[in-house]
Amino acid sequence: MTIGIDKISFHVPDYYLDMTDLAHARETDPAKFHIGLGQDQMALIPKTQDIITLGASAAAKILTADDKKMIDMVIVGTESSTDFSKSAAVTIHKLLDIQPFARSFEIKHACYGGTAALQQARDYVAAHPDRKVLVIAADIAKYGLHSGGEPTQGCGAVAMLVTKNPHLLAFNNDSVFYSEDVYDFWRPAGHDYPLVDGHLSNQIYIDSFTRIWEQNKKINQTTSSDYAALTFHLPYTKMGRKALRAIFPEMSETEQQRLETRYDEAIIYSRQVGNLYTGSLYLGLASLLDNSKLAAGERIGLFSYGSGAVSEFFSMTLMEDYQQYLSIEENQLLLSKRKRLSITEYEEMFAEKLPTDGKTYTFSDPTKFAINKISDNIRYYNK
Ligand code: COA
Repeated sequence: MTIGIDKISFHVPDYYLDMTDLAHARETDPAKFHIGLGQDQMALIPKTQDIITLGASAAAKILTADDKKMIDMVIVGTESSTDFSKSAAVTIHKLLDIQPFARSFEIKHACYGGTAALQQARDYVAAHPDRKVLVIAADIAKYGLHSGGEPTQGCGAVAMLVTKNPHLLAFNNDSVFYSEDVYDFWRPAGHDYPLVDGHLSNQIYIDSFTRIWEQNKKINQTTSSDYAALTFHLPYTKMGRKALRAIFPEMSETEQQRLETRYDEAIIYSRQVGNLYTGSLYLGLASLLDNSKLAAGERIGLFSYGSGAVSEFFSMTLMEDYQQYLSIEENQLLLSKRKRLSITEYEEMFAEKLPTDGKTYTFSDPTKFAINKISDNIRYYNK
């Protein structure tokens, strides 16, 4: 049976910061951000939006009334939970009017959570072929003003509907995993921002990729020429490029060029959004599908990395006429219609937090799924 991603969509808020403005404010050469990190813009989120509004907004674009009757599981992969106990998935389940006899839960391991969710969805559909699973990878990457990680922030959500006979991509059941207990990025309870050894995380990312790539070649008997494209977790777009180039010595120059061109197509959206932690691999996948001329039957490799560190490499095959099921214009409009904020507006928005004193506060954010009230530390959403 063929199982895979039937539909994919993403959502980012209506605001962004231009990386040149950030560079000037931080007295840094803008080329460091645009070329050194490969980032042009960074998505910004107001306090009236969270991973629930991001995830619901992404999923609402792809779900039909019929899908909502067929979904048995809603899984949210995130490391930006709004609650240590209740999952974002159960609120998204309600906001989207998904049939009540469904499982809803959150899954975590740094930026790897979305992949864990996706693989769990595949297993569920394999056992229940007529049912569907909604996977959401949603995060808000915040390192702090003036921090080393500040230029690698961002936010957003990717939603994927996993079904049998998918319209877009089929799993090839060829996953290779790798775990290594390391402290390159972690956020202990009580910390608003992660603790991060950025240069160590870069190194572990590349080492994990090269190890898993070797293991993949051994187990799945493939070489780079078997993949139409290799896509990567994208904390910033230079990161995946460094990993890709780490395996260039085993390829011809033509092969290097081919994969680097596909890579450039896969980072078009991330250059404008920044880091969405667990969703960033899948924003890269969406960018590749929207911006590359690929053919049905071609295989795409996906490298997922979550600091700490867990990684997975797997591949998916493009389905017949997959191009007909993309929303390219809608995706481009979502990014182009956003408002550019000044540094002062960014810093103010960054500092704003929802109150936690249990009193009642109301908000007026007209966005479809925004928070309109908080009371007793319960968030209420527009619907
Ligand atoms: N023009 C062009 N490139 C420039 C430049 C300039 N003026 N100045 C610096 N650069 C390049 C550097 O050469 C470097 O490129 P390289 O990595 O290919 O060598 C890149 O810009 C980054 O410079 P660096 O000095 O390493 O930046 P940094 O010390 O500020 O750290 C991160 C960068 C990514 C480590 C930091 O932003 C961070 O900690 N981010 C959060 C963690 C993260 O995203 N980890 C990724 C793995 S999950």
